[in-house]
Amino acid sequence: MSVLSVKNLIYGYSKGTPFEKGALKGVSVDFRKGEIVAVIGHTGSGKSTLLQHLNGLLKPDSGEVLFDGKSIYESKETLRKCRFNVGLCFQYPEQQLFESTVYKDIAFGPTNMGLSAEEIKKRVHSSIDYVGLTEDYLDKSPFDLSGGEKRRVAIAGVISMEPKVLILDEPTAGLDPLGKNNLLKLIKDYNEQTGNTVIFVSHNMDDVALVADRVIVMNDGEVALDGTVDEVYSQGEKLASLGLDVPEITSVFIELNNAGFDLGHTEYTVEGAKNAILNSLSKGGAV
Ligand SMILES: Nc1ncnc2c1ncn2[C@@H]1O[C@H](COP(=O)(O)OP(=O)(O)OP(=O)(O)O)[C@@H](O)[C@H]1O
Ligand SMILES: [Mg+2]
Repeated sequence: MSVLSVKNLIYGYSKGTPFEKGALKGVSVDFRKGEIVAVIGHTGSGKSTLLQHLNGLLKPDSGEVLFDGKSIYESKETLRKCRFNVGLCFQYPEQQLFESTVYKDIAFGPTNMGLSAEEIKKRVHSSIDYVGLTEDYLDKSPFDLSGGEKRRVAIAGVISMEPKVLILDEPTAGLDPLGKNNLLKLIKDYNEQTGNTVIFVSHNMDDVALVADRVIVMNDGEVALDGTVDEVYSQGEKLASLGLDVPEITSVFIELNNAGFDLGHTEYTVEGAKNAILNSLSKGGAV
């Protein structure tokens, strides 16, 4: 069953000016409970604009946003419910952090939800730990932190609300390889431990193959492809026409298969490729 869906979303920036720009041109998508969905697409394709509609931050010119089957604009109550249950981490964490200390920033959401002081404290401490920062950070100003630390604090501020749908706009941008792997693990863990939906944007096709169940490809304000990693990544030519590449390991795999090595179906992750090669070798295949 879908937890969140959008129907025929249309949205333009700078309406009524010479700079008017159609950013979403009729987007319909269902997000189901418990899935990890990656949204990909070249720069300017409408990914961030779509995500900002999912928790009511942007209001569509026309179309619907449904949470738990109800329009989020039906009443103040439905919009409030959506804001607390659909947690969005912005592409640029600076736009999200505004309190004088990290503690206050992370406590902001749970406080608005009306939780008890004790519960708020518990959530702040567990969230900072969840994103891999120590409690020493809680008294610091969020503005004195590095880019990667700011991003983690911004994510902690959303996770502290324990949202049914966690949305992360380019969470791995600007992180070093270790930070990136920790973040991908966080996505998996949050999904597995809570059974909640995670939606994230990435420009890295390898990362997407590692963690996503499903991939939505945006192009020029529309959904160009929507399917499992296999379904989407097997359309190499179509992806190339949308300005996207399949993962490097997939290109190597296609070359090996073309060269006559029988490795079976295409793989999208290094781990999957390793297993397929070992499997072929164990059957006496020449690799
Ligand atoms: N605040 C804004 N004012 C005017 N136009 C905007 C604004 N934000 C985005 N746009 C335009 O809307 C379109 C979609 O932008 P959006 O930020 O959703 O793309 P994106 O897929 O997230 O890109 P990126 O990968 O660069 O983050 C682009 O053409 C962009 O220039
Ligand atoms: Mg964006």
